[in-house]
Amino acid sequence: MRETLIILGSGYTARFLFPLAARQYRKVLATSREPEKHLAHLLPEQRLRFDLAQPDTWTSLPDSADILWCFPAVPPDLVRQFGERLNTSPPRLVVLGSTSAYDIGESRDYPPPWIDEAAPIDLSKPRVQGEEYLRKELGAVVLLVAGIYGPGRNPLDWIRKGRVGPSRKYVNLIHVEDLASICLTALERGTSGEVYNVSDGTPKTWKEICEFAQQRWGIMPSTSIADCEPGKRISTGKLTHTLGYEIRHQDLQAELTKIHNP
Ligand SMILES: NC(=O)c1ccc[n+]([C@@H]2O[C@H](COP(=O)([O-])OP(=O)(O)OC[C@H]3O[C@@H](n4cnc5c(N)ncnc54)[C@H](OP(=O)(O)O)[C@@H]3O)[C@@H](O)[C@H]2O)c1
Repeated sequence: MRETLIILGSGYTARFLFPLAARQYRKVLATSREPEKHLAHLLPEQRLRFDLAQPDTWTSLPDSADILWCFPAVPPDLVRQFGERLNTSPPRLVVLGSTSAYDIGESRDYPPPWIDEAAPIDLSKPRVQGEEYLRKELGAVVLLVAGIYGPGRNPLDWIRKGRVGPSRKYVNLIHVEDLASICLTALERGTSGEVYNVSDGTPKTWKEICEFAQQRWGIMPSTSIADCEPGKRISTGKLTHTLGYEIRHQDLQAELTKIHNP
């Protein structure tokens, strides 16, 4: 068992992660900018106030704890200042990034090519700059995460509300329970300074998902906006073969059914 884990930024993913982490760490601490309000479900000694924008809160973090960074690493100058102010580099640091880091330029190839961790990233994005600082200077493992879904975050709602429509655009998703387990696997055996894509490995077009939603539940998309973007297809070879993680929630239709009819 390892000693202490700090979940820096405790929102949706952290809710699923906390109970799993408590099996692998003697002490798990979760942070929030408003801990009494947002972390009322935890014991007072399990929650810390931390706000990247308020350096006086940085000192509340204990030294020598593993850290799982679960909010966007911006702005880069504060990320750097925070990194420099940590007394020592955390023994293990895992940072959640996003697959939006990948720069596909003007490519209109269709279907889009598979994107692995060697693909170019968009360093003009502040978030990518923050993550790259943490990776290169503090040895963070960076997880580039696809769209997160699960109980309470239902892609069918995105269709209903018109956030997405039946386009040919590819989307990559990851179930929050897999993501939570992957975070712990990365803390345990991710290689310092490496990047791993995190997705369920089965990119779909929104058209496919909308058709299933319509056939199964009669959900009609509330937008017909034809998004002609090709989207991305995120390769997960490194996640499965190098990190050795086996995705448990890969059948999107089955998972949507579980979320829709719990
Ligand atoms: N949602 C997606 O589909 C998706 C896709 C790819 C990647 N990601 C990334 O994966 C990570 C986890 O996602 P999630 O949906 O679980 O995140 P989330 O629900 O937004 O939780 C992150 C929490 O971090 C805290 N936070 C935000 N800004 C902060 C700051 N400046 N300083 C300190 N704490 C801060 C907030 O809690 P308080 O308000 O309580 O402080 C927030 O609820 C995030 O980095 C997200 O960008 C998400």
